[in-house]
Amino acid sequence: MTTPTLYAPIDLDRLPRHVAIIMDGNGRWARQHKVKIAMGHRAGTETLRSIIRNSSDMGIKALSLYAFSTENWGRPQTEVDALMQLILDFFASEIDELCEKNVHILILGDKSALPDKQRAALVDAENRTAQNTGLCLNIAINYGSRAELARAARSLARDVQAGRLSPDDITEDKLSSRLYTAGMPEVDLLIRTSGEMRLSNFLLYQCAYAEFVFPTVLWPDFDLKQYHQCIAEFQSRKRRFGKREE
Ligand code: FPP
Repeated sequence: MTTPTLYAPIDLDRLPRHVAIIMDGNGRWARQHKVKIAMGHRAGTETLRSIIRNSSDMGIKALSLYAFSTENWGRPQTEVDALMQLILDFFASEIDELCEKNVHILILGDKSALPDKQRAALVDAENRTAQNTGLCLNIAINYGSRAELARAARSLARDVQAGRLSPDDITEDKLSSRLYTAGMPEVDLLIRTSGEMRLSNFLLYQCAYAEFVFPTVLWPDFDLKQYHQCIAEFQSRKRRFGKREE
């Protein structure tokens, strides 16, 4: 593992196991810089590259990034097209290095509704990295948490219908085993940039006990110093999980 430079006082032995990020503010960044929205998303992709690399180097177990929600189809077609192109470009340029870094890629969301080229690139990235044991990189594309929960409910219902499962045996563990994130630690730290303080249908179940940090910086300006500050803030919090402090 590469030893990373730390830009804030972080204890590498107490890292959040699972970090989730809502990468918000690309549009406002583009407006501030008087460039097209697509340029904002392109600048945001640079941030994403550096956060992925650094998370892998630090030894974070899982990183979930919200790249495209089920609601994002409602944006202007030119913006949707630009995001779809960026997704293709990202996998084309990064997949070799991610493989080398032992990163395991998982797409959260319904790939079936994506254009053929994008779907093929995502499936290829998942297949090529399936045996990797390092950072689990979850990229949410055409993802919505409510849709994920409905999908898990359908999967359990099918087992009940087929007589493989009794309704009484449906536990929290069984439910979470049908989510895209099955087998992963739940989210410890949720970061949303740009000052917005909402979950926006991202990992609702997995964030039950997450610590939330809301830096005001726009996503393209979010750098490693700010990332490490978020982790330091997480490490300064007392987590009680509904219990009394010892
Ligand atoms: C939110 O900013 C951001 C998005 C909807 C897209 C995030 C995507 C990327 C960073 C790059 C593409 C992803 C990959 C995997 C290559 P916003 O546009 O809603 O910002 P605003 O609230 O300022 O308008």
